[in-house]
Amino acid sequence: MNSPTPIGGTARCLVVDDDAQVRHALAKVIEGHGLATVQASSGKEALEVLRIQGEIPLVISDVNMPEMDGISFLREALRLYPDMAVIMLTGVSEVTTAVECLKLGALDYISKPVLLDEVRARVDKALDKRQLVLDNRFHQQHLEVRVRELDRRNKQSLINGVQTLVHALEAKDAYTSGHSSRVSRYAVKTAVQLGYTGDLLEQIRLGGELHDIGKIGTREDILNKPGPLTAEEFEHIKAHSILGERILAPFLSESPMVLRIVRHHHERMDGTGFPDELRGADIPQEARIVAVVDAFDAMTTNRAYRPSRRVADAVLELQRCAGAHFDHEVVGGFLRALGDTSALSLTV
Ligand SMILES: [Fe+2]
Repeated sequence: MNSPTPIGGTARCLVVDDDAQVRHALAKVIEGHGLATVQASSGKEALEVLRIQGEIPLVISDVNMPEMDGISFLREALRLYPDMAVIMLTGVSEVTTAVECLKLGALDYISKPVLLDEVRARVDKALDKRQLVLDNRFHQQHLEVRVRELDRRNKQSLINGVQTLVHALEAKDAYTSGHSSRVSRYAVKTAVQLGYTGDLLEQIRLGGELHDIGKIGTREDILNKPGPLTAEEFEHIKAHSILGERILAPFLSESPMVLRIVRHHHERMDGTGFPDELRGADIPQEARIVAVVDAFDAMTTNRAYRPSRRVADAVLELQRCAGAHFDHEVVGGFLRALGDTSALSLTV
C-alpha cells in the first residue's frame, strides 16, 4: 500500500487502482486540488484502509482489480459508509458496468483513459453532491427533532390545562374530588379488557378524567344539595355533558373521542339517557364504558344525599341494569377488570 497520508490520519480521498501509475497520477491531481489522499491497490486493501481510518468522504476506485474487484468493493464500502461519495473508473466500452455501479450507489463514473481536468471537475461535483445529501439530512433530522419537541410541548400544555380544569371542578364539588381520576382508571382497565390499545385507549383515559368537566357551569348549591333534586334542578345538572363538550372542543380537535365521551356518558342503551337519547350501538362504545364505571363509582362513593353502597351491591345493580341502561359487554369487561381489585384500588 502506497500511502502519502499515514493510516489513522485524515485522508479526504481514497484512490483505489491496481495500476500504480494511474493511482499516483490521480492522487497527485487530487492533492493539487487540496485533498489529502490515501491509496490502495485492490478492493481488499481499500476496505482495510476504511476499517482503520473510518469513513473517508470521497473514494475513486477502478473496477477491474485483482483480489477484490471494484464492484464488490463498492458494495461493501457503501454498506459500511452509505454517505461516502464514490466515483468509479471504467473502460470506455463498459457502459453496463458503469450503470451497475450507479445502481449500487456510486455517485459518478469516469471513463478510462482518465483526463486529469475531468477528474478535477468530477471530484468537485461529487463532493458538492455529498455535502448536499448531508445538509439535507441534517435539516431533516433537525426539523424532525423540532416537530417532536413542539408536539411534546403541545401535549404537555394540554395535560396542564386539563389538570387545571379538573382542579377547578374539584375545588367546587367535593364529590368530584378523586372521582374523575378513579373513573379514568376504571375506564382504562375496562377498555383493555375489551381489546382497546393505543391512541383510542389514551382518549378513553382522558375522557374519563374529563367526563364531568361541564359541572364547572353547574350551580354549587345544586351540586352539593343534600337531598333529591327537583325536576328543574335535574335539567340544570343535565346540561353539564353538552357544556363539557363545548368547553373542551377548542383544545381537543385531534381527540374527537374524548369529546364524544364527555357528551354521551349519560346516554342509556334503551334511549332514556341524555343529552341526545341515543340508543344501543348509536352510543359510542367508549362513552358506554365511561357510563358503567361512572355509575359504579357514584354508587360506591359517599354522596351529599346518601352514603355509599357496598361493592357487591353496586355490582348487582350494574348487572340488573345491563341491557336497559348499560351495555352488557361493557359490564362484563368491567366485572373482569374488577376481578383484579388491586389494579382498581377498590375499597370494599
Ligand atoms: Fe356526568
